[in-house]
Amino acid sequence: MANKKPEIRVFVTRALPEPALHYLRARYGQVDINPHDRPLTRDELLEAVKNRDGVLCLLTDTIDEAVLKAANRARIFANCAVGVNNVDLAAATRLGIMVTNTPGVLTETTADLTLALILAVTRRLTESERFLREGRFRGWGPMLLLGTDIRDKTLGLLGAGRIGSAVAYRAAAFGMNMIYHDRQSNHELEQNLRARRVSFEELLEQSDVLSIHVPLNESTHHLIDARALERMKKTAFLINTSRGSVIDEAALAEHLRAGGLRGAGLDVYENEPRVHEDLLTSDRAVLLPHIGSATEETRTRMAMMAAENLAAGLEGRRPPQLVNPETWSRSPRSDS
Ligand code: GLV
Repeated sequence: MANKKPEIRVFVTRALPEPALHYLRARYGQVDINPHDRPLTRDELLEAVKNRDGVLCLLTDTIDEAVLKAANRARIFANCAVGVNNVDLAAATRLGIMVTNTPGVLTETTADLTLALILAVTRRLTESERFLREGRFRGWGPMLLLGTDIRDKTLGLLGAGRIGSAVAYRAAAFGMNMIYHDRQSNHELEQNLRARRVSFEELLEQSDVLSIHVPLNESTHHLIDARALERMKKTAFLINTSRGSVIDEAALAEHLRAGGLRGAGLDVYENEPRVHEDLLTSDRAVLLPHIGSATEETRTRMAMMAAENLAAGLEGRRPPQLVNPETWSRSPRSDS
């Protein structure tokens, strides 16, 4: 290790929880970190990745072919997120660059936030708080800010993987019934929660609350478009803590404006940090700034996992969360 230390150059695209930075600094001679409290601009990123052996990047960095090529020495890009839609995986694989992610460690935290959004939108929490802060609360009223119960209602999960399942267990404790749409059956959910696997159309038509838990890729881009929204109940709520572009945001804004849904709880947007103007002015929408995994504990675990993946890739060990395993067998540094 000691003689390797000066040779390896690492770049971290944004300051992360200290334990991860400490871990990297203890191992490598040169660990540079984006000095700004913002994502790097494209030109800054293209420059920063040059001559680095490894890069620890974030979901706000667009790691496309040009960036991967600019990273002329890099063997690995360790993404500090479970989603890797910000990385051109095909290009990375072609170039023999390993890509890793951080699955598992953010599951419970993201599921918690999903439940928080479900409750916030069905019980009109943010709208109620605005009402009070604006000085409009004149006392208890029998018809004041009535919401919707979730007990005995149907939660439809679009995607029943790790996060979708964790949401289902929480929702079951609130008395919800579960249906899901996924390419694969989730036998555990079916057995433990009597969840039913349904077609995409049935999911749209039967859900009282529809919650999205699929990764963003070509097949899920705009999966919830105007046509899909049309099929949903007018009394339904749509929740998204995955990636904004799974929903056609303009179509959703229009649909909500026209009263086609009772509400939407969103943590993610198509063009972050921009949010569609009509959503910003809608009382039917609860809007959060992409904080699904934002707890101290979880962000520290994610950063450590990304740092450990990076270190594995740099030191010739197979990174535990390698997303493009094809690059491993081709890696000249691989030791197995
Ligand atoms: C957060 O959005 C993640 O993908 O980790």
